[in-house]
Amino acid sequence: MYTNRFSRIGFILAAAGSAVGLGNIWKFPYITGENGGGVFVFVYLLTVILIGLSIFIAEVLVGSSTNQDSVSAFETLSPKGKKYWKYSGFTFLTGIIILSFYSIVVGWILNYVVIAITNLPQNTTQAETVFMTMLKDDIFTQLFYYTLAFLIIAYTISKGVKKGIEKLNNYLMPTLIVILVIMFFYSMSLSGFTKALDFMFYPNFEKFHTSSVIIAVGHAFFTLSIGMATILSYSASLDRNINIVKASITIVTLDTVIAIVAGVIIFSVVFTAGQAPSQGPGLVFITLPAIFYEMGVIGNIMAIAFFVALAFAAITSAISVLEPTVMYLVERKNISRKKATYSISFIFYLLGIFALLSNTNSFSESLTFGNKNLFDWFDFITAAILMPLGGILLAIFVGYVIDKEQVRKKLVPLMGEKFFKLWLILIRYVAPISVLLIMLNETGILKL
Ligand code: PHE
Repeated sequence: MYTNRFSRIGFILAAAGSAVGLGNIWKFPYITGENGGGVFVFVYLLTVILIGLSIFIAEVLVGSSTNQDSVSAFETLSPKGKKYWKYSGFTFLTGIIILSFYSIVVGWILNYVVIAITNLPQNTTQAETVFMTMLKDDIFTQLFYYTLAFLIIAYTISKGVKKGIEKLNNYLMPTLIVILVIMFFYSMSLSGFTKALDFMFYPNFEKFHTSSVIIAVGHAFFTLSIGMATILSYSASLDRNINIVKASITIVTLDTVIAIVAGVIIFSVVFTAGQAPSQGPGLVFITLPAIFYEMGVIGNIMAIAFFVALAFAAITSAISVLEPTVMYLVERKNISRKKATYSISFIFYLLGIFALLSNTNSFSESLTFGNKNLFDWFDFITAAILMPLGGILLAIFVGYVIDKEQVRKKLVPLMGEKFFKLWLILIRYVAPISVLLIMLNETGILKL
């Protein structure tokens, strides 16, 4: 039984810390840009509310009603004769694979905090050179910041739920929110602000395709950290007398609002500079720094604030993907937390180095298999296969396998009979079917 528990607000900040990450500030704005804005945002919101939130509640339910690591949690709730469901708990492996490439990006961001402080690139061409040189040639710099990222992550997790995870989130999350609020108010004074609002909320069907729906659903999973035992494990360290439905709604809302606010800030800056919104992953690392430079002193301050916020968001997410594995080793294998954290971190740190090298000119050839390098493979395998698989397993487990009366008893007092019925439909039919569609599409089995 897990005794080291989050306080109520500690849990909300930590789970929001997990959810709010690169997905919100880096990925959401650029996929919105690539998929035409308004309609995409609408579909994304719909997916988050209908599928994301219902799976999120299911995950918190499983974690909080067992207070155990993910494997034990699935095992405890499985009915007799169906104990093989415990293997679903191993979805924490998805998280740990994510950690090895997510930390590489955390490293880039730490590097960009320094770049923002010391010398911002002066135009887009220069900004592209800075980014590409780091990515393709500068193995040392990347390794340095990647190692730093891993050390921060492992150190925090080794300290445990209260003194590590809760404490770090208590500092970083409010700071992140304050930075974003200030930047948001500043962006209101920019000439591109209304255009940004228009872009994000006015439907534009031109760039919107069926594949955009799939991207929206996939992103809803990634951004809410669901389907890989992360939220489950955090919820296992939750105080018993907290309203889990209310907490889930708060966290999901926070995650969504932050994504939208980040989008509005970034597009206000981009439109003010007269640039196009559809620049892909380079939006944050190439387009923004160059624009910040042109904005003079204010731009410089904004650049630092922006990359610090991004670093905070990314670190609080990265620690959350390590926790489930460590919790499993501590609870089931009786390994000390420190030993579990550092040994597992070291293994995946080494694995991540290969992913890092696979982006560089010197090693890309030997670390590319098929049409993807290792970095892209990790991303693809987790996003297209493992994460959706984890989501489906969880939805089926909660929707069909575990005792429905028990679930009803827990949830009806918190959400009422009507919403419980709706939730059950979502978890039994809507979530598994739509997630299956993403998987088939992303793996190329079905082309929508
Ligand atoms: N939700 C995080 C983000 O938006 C990423 C993440 C995925 C974190 C999976 C934990 C688990 O960046």
